Amino acid sequence: MARYAQVQGSVALITLTNPPVNALSAGVRLGITETVTRALCDPKVKSVVICGENGVFCGGADIREFAKPMTGPPLVPMIAAIEEGDKPVVAAIEGVAFGGGLELALGCHYRIAHSKARVGLPEVTLGLLPAAGGTQRLPRLIGLAPALELITTGRHVTAQEALKLGIVDKVTDQSALDLAIQFAQEVVGQPLLPRKLSTQLTPCPPDVDAILDEAMARVKQRARGAMAPVACVQAVRAAVNLPYQAGMQKEQELMAFLFRSSQARALQYCFFAQRAVGKWSLSSGAHSGNSKPRPVTKAAVIGLGTMGRGITVALVKAGLSVVAVETNKKQLEMGKQMVSAMLKHDAQKMNAVSRLDLLHYTTDLSELKNTDLIIEAVFEDMALKKEVFKKLSSVCKPDAVLCTNTSGLDVDELASVTKRPELVVGMHFFAPAHVMKLLEVVRGSRSSPEVMATAMHLGKRLGKVSVVVGNCSGFVGNRMLRPYLDQANFLLEEGATPELVDGALEEFGFPMGVFKVSDLSGLDVGWRIRKEAGLTGPNVDSKDPSRRRQGRRYSPLPDLVCEQGRLGQKSGRGWYLYDKPGGRVATPDPDIHKLLEDYRVRHGIRPRQIDRQEVLERSLFALINEGFRVLEDGMAMGPEDIDMIYVFGYGWPRHRGGPMFYAAMVGLPKVLERLEYYQQVHPDVPHLQPSSLLRRLVVNGSPPLDKWRDFLQRPHSQL
Ligand code: COA
Ligand code: ADP
Repeated sequence: MARYAQVQGSVALITLTNPPVNALSAGVRLGITETVTRALCDPKVKSVVICGENGVFCGGADIREFAKPMTGPPLVPMIAAIEEGDKPVVAAIEGVAFGGGLELALGCHYRIAHSKARVGLPEVTLGLLPAAGGTQRLPRLIGLAPALELITTGRHVTAQEALKLGIVDKVTDQSALDLAIQFAQEVVGQPLLPRKLSTQLTPCPPDVDAILDEAMARVKQRARGAMAPVACVQAVRAAVNLPYQAGMQKEQELMAFLFRSSQARALQYCFFAQRAVGKWSLSSGAHSGNSKPRPVTKAAVIGLGTMGRGITVALVKAGLSVVAVETNKKQLEMGKQMVSAMLKHDAQKMNAVSRLDLLHYTTDLSELKNTDLIIEAVFEDMALKKEVFKKLSSVCKPDAVLCTNTSGLDVDELASVTKRPELVVGMHFFAPAHVMKLLEVVRGSRSSPEVMATAMHLGKRLGKVSVVVGNCSGFVGNRMLRPYLDQANFLLEEGATPELVDGALEEFGFPMGVFKVSDLSGLDVGWRIRKEAGLTGPNVDSKDPSRRRQGRRYSPLPDLVCEQGRLGQKSGRGWYLYDKPGGRVATPDPDIHKLLEDYRVRHGIRPRQIDRQEVLERSLFALINEGFRVLEDGMAMGPEDIDMIYVFGYGWPRHRGGPMFYAAMVGLPKVLERLEYYQQVHPDVPHLQPSSLLRRLVVNGSPPLDKWRDFLQRPHSQL
């Protein structure tokens, strides 16, 4: 899988041929090894150029091979043979040189890049490190600090930045291959030794230990339990402290450890799952391959509240022209100022121009006549949303797509008030909508395949990870969150504190624990929803005891907290204390501890010692259990969809793969056994009742996650 040709008389041209990204599969490695040997042995060849077919140099090691036994020649000696040879080898980088692709290029003596090319070592994002000499050669080439940054974050750089850093020698707007061939002829006869990175020393600033220690502290703090970034720093340390061969040995040892880790498996699973969720299918047989999206050039957003503003910014940044609608001039002006400020801030950060010209503001719905797609983001109130949809249905052109950003209301009910229910779909964004990567695309029972394709395609244009979900209360993400939140509250009743629960979740890898997140979002949001649902406030059934609702356990604790005016960060007090309203640094609050103690006394609860293990099992296994129910109800295509929703929308640590992957790693029998145990202890919590899919999977020997679909009872899909 590497083509050999001789060009310009004396240049051997080796082309990697493994579409779509020329990944370094066993076949490609064999091809490179053979063609390089041929070039080095042929006396007519004076220099060599390596390039990739179809405008892509190389997307790195073949990730699909990681799960299989190793075959074919290994990368390290293959790259060493290129570097050690006595003929200059030039890498012609077009498209990307990632991971093993860049390591291959670093083994070459020169690198020429096209101006649109990107290079990087993304292995850390797959739970690994660049183990084909990347951790040893890159610091020798560009110095310690920049190499540390690139290797520990996996950040890609443009050709221009690569040139500045010294990763590539030349950048061209023309053909990188043509320039490389010309260059390969010019450098014949020039001394090669200085170009062989393994023979060089890593340039060492005087404060080398401080730089390494600081990098280690930074990655430990950012990594939230991920091991690969830490191993990357250790490997780079070896590039400074050890001779090249000993450094390579260290790199191999660290890689062997990471390669076997469950974190690497989780991260590689995420890589493929993220791509798989874009390939949606419906029970009707329609799928992403046979459903064409409608063209969308002009969009509208109704309501410029928190969500509407973020959605507007996301649309504008994707280059769409947007009509933004509010109820009155005052609200409109406020929304306009916020949107402009967000766009300007963003443009400044990205060193780009803010496209305010793409925006038009109005309070008049009739101005939506020419829009192709409308996203409604008004208050979360069914009656109001229906009124808006009715109006949209009559003012918008007949083929305009109507989307709702509801976070849980019935999409079918909304569709039913329009004259085009097949053109109605949910687009559930997550706050802040211009930042968060997740988009749930909610299929109503009558949403057409074309409309699904349009929403999914728009999601992609906005840079979102879009996941098709069914139309059930809370859709997938928020539906699974409920049992998790309930358990967190129950744990407080039984003896935990917010900081104990959050500490356990943060140690697990969430960026913030559940109570800190609630404080950030505002506690009044849930309070309003609970009031509307008759769970608290004047509409509670007077026969219900204070800690039971509708026949099941209920914790009134969050209501009590709100009643005290503790609404979270915005009021300076919530589950934690903040230095001021709007403050961000949470400190444990003795008043909350007192509130919990009084509450327990009032309700006759004897507090228990609760450990972190129990916090994790109860909150995460309850959430996972609901995930199995989501699958059973046919509300998600598969476990990968649920996992991507949690990784991209709810801060689930990527190195743990998502809740369903995590359940498989823990072992389904263990999850089932713990759920059964907690259900016995808490019989009044139906969420702890193990789902029948989980039971069926365990009875059938806990098959791997990609086989779970076979155990769903048919017909199951609501999609
Ligand atoms: N190994 C195996 N398969 C790979 C791959 C790799 N290194 N890189 C990409 N692919 C596959 C993808 O899974 C996808 O397969 P599919 O069509 O069956 O879904 C296909 O190649 C195209 O990739 P995609 O990411 O959808 O295309 P893109 O043009 O948006 O991006 C890359 C191309 C190379 C930038 C991107 O795929 C990427 O970053 N790859 C990973 C690079 C990496 O981490 N390398 C280090 C490996 S240790
Ligand atoms: P969210 O947090 O879901 O974005 P907000 O309460 O922040 O909700 O914002 C909802 C926005 O919708 C408010 O700015 C409100 O003025 C606006 N809005 C409400 N009804 C309409 C309507 N009929 N047309 C346009 N905008 C509306």
